Amino acid sequence: MRQAGRYLPEYRKIREEVDFLTLTKTPELAVEVTLQPVRRFGMDAAILFSDIMTPVEGMGVALDFAPGPVIETPIRSIEQVEALRVPDPQDPDEGVPFVLETVRLLSEALPASAPLIGFAGAPFTLFCYLVQGGGSKTFSEAKAFLFAEPEASHRLLEKLAATMTRYLEAQAHAGAQALMIFDSWAGLLGPEQYREFAYPAVQRMIDSLRPLDVPLIYFPNQGATLLATVAECGADVVGIDWRLPLSDARRILGPGTAVQGNLDPTALFAPREELALQIDRVLTDAGPAPGHIFNLGHGIEKATDPDAVAFLVDRVHEVSERGGRDPR
Ligand code: CP3
Repeated sequence: MRQAGRYLPEYRKIREEVDFLTLTKTPELAVEVTLQPVRRFGMDAAILFSDIMTPVEGMGVALDFAPGPVIETPIRSIEQVEALRVPDPQDPDEGVPFVLETVRLLSEALPASAPLIGFAGAPFTLFCYLVQGGGSKTFSEAKAFLFAEPEASHRLLEKLAATMTRYLEAQAHAGAQALMIFDSWAGLLGPEQYREFAYPAVQRMIDSLRPLDVPLIYFPNQGATLLATVAECGADVVGIDWRLPLSDARRILGPGTAVQGNLDPTALFAPREELALQIDRVLTDAGPAPGHIFNLGHGIEKATDPDAVAFLVDRVHEVSERGGRDPR
């Protein structure tokens, strides 16, 4: 998660020349940055280099990064919601043709051993940034809007779901081989609000994307208390953050859903021996049944030592190739 980015010196070098928005909008550079971790570590998959907020510009929202997303005019009224466009991602005037060009170039550049994961933000997580106006620990303004303006909230979530569905379809047609939906702020909601607002919007997306026949991954961050609902969403894979053991997640999700996760990203700061134990614990906890994609339990910290990541990738490959999930 965030396998490309500021912890890599080769990424920082490119960022000395261009700002983040320019980087995401220049296909040749976005391709290069996507390939950097695959080249350096031999990851088993690549994730498109972009941001969850990139496609909302096409809806008519003025956006900046500092380094997190900043929305020029936060959305706080039904009139603003109605004024948003549901853009055609292919249309240069309103969509994100540069992202689709990046996907096309990547599907040619990547080795067959590293399929490309396309992605989008989940409607509720995008809603959080659009209403709050930027990052926040609590997203109180965004949550307050749900309670105070439920109709406008539903309308905004619907428009975001429609836009992100089209966006992911376009990525799949351009060559993305799996699609991931990031719901980074799902865990801010209690089960009732999650079921009323966040979940139906994601489920609509998954239902609409199903006919593409591309594996769908849904990551409800801090979603431990929401998993019984998530279990119904129809995703092929559910991403699990580092707070919940994968064995518990598997019990709740059932044998038909694969899990992805969930090493605590700060474990990468431990001495190698401890890091090895933590990696092995995740693999053991996932159990011997098929359907586990090793990943971090959230985004990589920018102070992470790339050599610790190399150690992790080698260790996961080594233990998985031994066939057993019990490293002893
Ligand atoms: O994983 C990858 O390698 C693909 C690239 C990727 C980025 N953002 C690049 C990025 C992906 C998949 C994302 C998704 C994203 N963006 C999420 C969902 C995943 C999660 O972490 O929960 C969210 C919530 C965002 C919003 C966002 N964008 C934040 C909070 C930030 C600031 C990050 C920070 O650590 O300060 C960004 C900017 C951003 N997106 C950077 C990168 C590499 C750093 C920008 C820079 O180079 O200055």
